[in-house]
Amino acid sequence: MATVEKDGIKLNYTDTGGSGTPVLLVHGFPFNSSMWDPQVKALGDKYRFIVPDLKGFGASDAPTDHKSYSVDFYADELKAVLDDAGVEKVVVAGLSMGGYIAFAFARKYGDSLAGLVLADTRSEADPPEAVEKRTNQQKQVASDGTGGLMDALPGALLSEKTKSDKPEVVERLKNVMDNPEAGYIGALETMKQRPDSTSDLAGINVPTLIIVGADDPLMPPSASESMQQAIGGSVMVVVPDAGHVSNLESPEEFTKALDEFLSGL
Ligand code: MLT
Repeated sequence: MATVEKDGIKLNYTDTGGSGTPVLLVHGFPFNSSMWDPQVKALGDKYRFIVPDLKGFGASDAPTDHKSYSVDFYADELKAVLDDAGVEKVVVAGLSMGGYIAFAFARKYGDSLAGLVLADTRSEADPPEAVEKRTNQQKQVASDGTGGLMDALPGALLSEKTKSDKPEVVERLKNVMDNPEAGYIGALETMKQRPDSTSDLAGINVPTLIIVGADDPLMPPSASESMQQAIGGSVMVVVPDAGHVSNLESPEEFTKALDEFLSGL
């Protein structure tokens, strides 16, 4: 494990080492870097994965000022991680909120981008009702802690098959969601404030893989299809039996799609 400090904030990351174009694995909300364990275990010897805990999650610092969280701040912090690791060109792979941050990274640091993986994510900003829901979740976490969301989210995110047949994935997700309150509140702020990235899609000119769980209740495959049509040359893989956390729910299929994409770069 390595750490880098950016504007007084300590950020934790793992660098698996190895050759080839490095791949930055950016976790979703409210997860941490351990979300990527199945892919790191399966492919960490073959590719150089850089796997950070975003600010507010895992072993990274979790400042309480929620205004210090945004997709742009996250992109800057990821750039600091890459600079610390000595990485100039990178494939950015983001799941869900990680995808929102990948769009910001592409806008700010397009010269560093060698490829994109957009998993279970969408380009649109939050509609007003989603902003209101997130504000209520922020209030809930501030007054009662993260327990309520940690209890509710597996039911809302995972596929029916995962919930009925894979109790170990449900347990694993709970561990991956065990993060500081300040991180929850800051990341909810980030997602509320994120800009719409739809108009960026046509300008993406790096190899792009779009992955989505066939049964993702939050980001249905239709949102991925729209992105695939807008990003020239992009490929899309639908992961069977998976909901929103497709890399944990159907790890073999997700890893296979990632491996095929990366090996072709
Ligand atoms: C995530 O998985 O990062 C979040 O569920 C995304 C969201 O709430 O928009």
